[in-house]
Amino acid sequence: MKSSVVNPWEVSGEINYEKLVKEFGTTPISDKIKKRLEKTHPLLRRGIYFSHRDFDKWLAEYDKKKKVSVITGRGPSDKMHLGHLVPFLVAKSLQENFNCEVFIPISDDEKFFVKEKLSFDDAIKFSEDNIIDLIALGFKQGKTTIFEDFKYTKIYNYAAKIAKRITYSEAKAVLGLKPENNIGWSFYPAMQAAHILFPQFSEGKHMSVVPVGIDQDPFIRLTRDVAVHKDFNFEKPAALHAKFVPSLTGDPKMSSSEGGQIFLTDSPKEVEMKIKKYAFSGGRDTLEEHRKKGGNPDVDVSYQYLKFFFELDDKKLQNIHDEYKSGRMLTSELKMILVDKINSFLKEHQKKRELAKKQMDKFLLH
Ligand code: TRP
Repeated sequence: MKSSVVNPWEVSGEINYEKLVKEFGTTPISDKIKKRLEKTHPLLRRGIYFSHRDFDKWLAEYDKKKKVSVITGRGPSDKMHLGHLVPFLVAKSLQENFNCEVFIPISDDEKFFVKEKLSFDDAIKFSEDNIIDLIALGFKQGKTTIFEDFKYTKIYNYAAKIAKRITYSEAKAVLGLKPENNIGWSFYPAMQAAHILFPQFSEGKHMSVVPVGIDQDPFIRLTRDVAVHKDFNFEKPAALHAKFVPSLTGDPKMSSSEGGQIFLTDSPKEVEMKIKKYAFSGGRDTLEEHRKKGGNPDVDVSYQYLKFFFELDDKKLQNIHDEYKSGRMLTSELKMILVDKINSFLKEHQKKRELAKKQMDKFLLH
C-alpha cells in the first residue's frame, strides 16, 4: 500500500484515521462527549469530527462557568468552496451552544509563502473575499474577532515572542520542513501558534478549542508545548479534529485545484450541472438493478453532503437513507434533493455576502 503523508502542507496517499489517532497521540471522541454535542452542527454530531485533545477539559471549564473560547483560521489561497466551511460551521455552532467568543485569523502570509504562484496582491484580495464569506455565515457581532496577518501586524509581536521559544529542529520535525522551502515556511509556525494563543494573549489565561482538519494537528502540538513555557504560562489549547470532506468526485479531500467543487459564489445552474455531472454515485448501473439491489449511501457523495451539511433533521435523513438503500429512490432523485438544498443555502449566503460587505468593521481588527 502507498504510504500516506498528512501534515499541514501535504496530504496524500490512503488515509487511515485510526492510525492517525495513534500516530499523533490524539483521543477519539467518546460517547460521553458526543452526548454533549447532540444539539450541535451535523459535522460535529454525525462523525466528521472524530478526534480531540483536551476537549473534555474545555467542557469542564465551561461547566464551571469559566471563560472558554473558540479559535480557528483560514488560509486564503482561493475563493471559498463548501469544504472550506467545515471548521467555521463548527465554530459557529460552538458559539451558539456555549455562548462563547470566536477568533478567526486569516493567514495570507502562509499562503503567500507556500503557494509558489500566489502573488502578494492576490493573497490580500482572497483574504478580503474570504472574510466576506466568513462574516456572511452569521457569527455573533461583538463576540467574533477576525484579523488578517498582513494587515493586523500586531500579531507579529506575539509571533516573535513565540518564535524565540521554538527551535528550528522542533519546527522541522513537527512540520516536515524541507531544505528547498523558502524561509517564510520556517517562521510561519510561530504565526499560527500566535493565532492559536491570541485569545489568551489578548484576554488572559483560559481554555480555547481549535476545530481543524487533522492535517493541522502538528501546529496544535507545537502550540501546546510552547503555551506552557514560563514566558507565557498559558493553558494548553484544546483541539477538535475533522476528517477530510470528500470532493464531489469522491476523492478523500476536497481541493480547489481539481475542479468540480461547489464555490460559495456559484449560480443555481452551475450547482445543478456540477452535482449531476460530478457527484460520485452509490447507485447501480441500470435502473432495473438499482430497483432490485438498492443504492449504497455510504459511498454516495450526495448522501454524504446531505448527512454532514444540509439535512439537519435526523428523521428526514434516515428516511432518505432508507429510500435510497432500498432502491425506491434513484440517484437522480437523491441528487435533486441535494441540488435544492445547496441552492437555497447559497441563495441566502449570497444575499448575506452583500450585507457582510457593510459589516466588515464590526468584526475586523486593525
Ligand atoms: N493553516 C490553516 C490552513 O491552511 C489556516 C489557519 C491559520 C489556522 N491560522 C489558524 C487554522 C489557526 C487553525 C488555527 O487551513
